[in-house]
Amino acid sequence: MNAVKHFLSIADLTPDELHNLLDLALSLKQEWQNGCNQPLLQGKSLALVFQKPSLRTRVSFEMGMVHLGGYALYLSPNEIKMGGRESVADVARVLSGYVDGIMARVFDHEHILGLAAHGSVPVINGLSDYNHPAQALADIFTVLEAKKKLEGLKMVYVGDGNNVARSLLFTCMKVGMHFAIATPPNYTLNEDDYVLGRNFSTAGASIEVHEDPNKAVADADIIYTDVWTSMGQEEETAARLKVFPPYQVNQQLVNLAKPDCLVMHCLPAHRGEEITDEVADGPNSILFPQAENRMHAQKAILVELLGKK
Ligand code: CP
Ligand code: NVA
Repeated sequence: MNAVKHFLSIADLTPDELHNLLDLALSLKQEWQNGCNQPLLQGKSLALVFQKPSLRTRVSFEMGMVHLGGYALYLSPNEIKMGGRESVADVARVLSGYVDGIMARVFDHEHILGLAAHGSVPVINGLSDYNHPAQALADIFTVLEAKKKLEGLKMVYVGDGNNVARSLLFTCMKVGMHFAIATPPNYTLNEDDYVLGRNFSTAGASIEVHEDPNKAVADADIIYTDVWTSMGQEEETAARLKVFPPYQVNQQLVNLAKPDCLVMHCLPAHRGEEITDEVADGPNSILFPQAENRMHAQKAILVELLGKK
C-alpha cells in the first residue's frame, strides 16, 4: 500500500511539488473564473477540525470542497475537544473511517503530527503553533500572480517570528527567493529554522536576519507582516505591545522599499498595531487578493491529496 500523502509543512515538499501545486492552483482558479470547476472531488469528504477560531481557513476550505463537488464537515473547537475529551490518536482513527481527508487547526503542532501518524487519510495543516503552510502556499501563489516570477524576489517579513514567518521562510527557500526578517530581539525564529531553511534552499535563495526593520526593507519586493500576538499567546499581549511598535508596517516603512513593493498580511489584522489603515488599504496592499487566493491554492492541495490518481 502506498504511504498516505499529507500537507503538513512546506519543508516536506520538493521544489517540483511546490511548483506543481502553484500550476494546479492557477488552472483551478482560471477554470473557476471561466464558469465552474470539474467535480474532481465528487463523493469525497473533508473533516475540518478547529481548536482555534478562523474565518479564511474555514470558509476557503469549505467552499473549495463545494467547488470541486465534495463535502466539508466543520467541527468547532467545542465539538470534539481533540486532545481533551478524546486523544488525538483516537480522533484520527475514528475520523479516518468516516471521511476522505482531515484539515486541522491546532495549538500544538504535535497534534497535527499525531493525526497524520494515527489516521489513514491525508491530513492538511490549517495552522499550528509551529507553521501555517496552506497560508504560505497561497501567499507565494499571490506573489507569482502579481510579479509573474518568484526567483530573485526579496520578501521581508516584519514583526513576530511566528508560525506564518516560519512557513514563509521555508517557502522562499524552496522557490529561490531572498527572505529577510526583522523582529525585536528574542522574537526571531529559532536557529533550527534558519538551519533547516538553508539546508534545502535552492539556487538564488538567501536569508537575512535583522533587528532594524528600516534596514531590512531596503530593496524589498514584498513586505509581509502578521499580528504581534498569535492565538494562544493572549496573556503576553501587554508585554508584546511594549516591544513591537517599532515594527509597525506604516507608510514611512513602505517608502523605504521598492516603489512597486507588495504589502501582504495573512489576516486577521490588528489595524493600528502591526499595520496602519493607510498601508492596508493603500496602493501597495494586496491583502484581499491574498485572502481570496487561500481558496484557489488550497483547492490544489485538495485535488492533489484527495483526487483520483
Ligand atoms: N489567515 C488565516 O488563516 O485566517 P483565519 O485565522 O481567519 O483562518
Ligand atoms: N500568527 C497568527 C496567524 C493567524 C492566521 C496566529 O497564529 O494567530
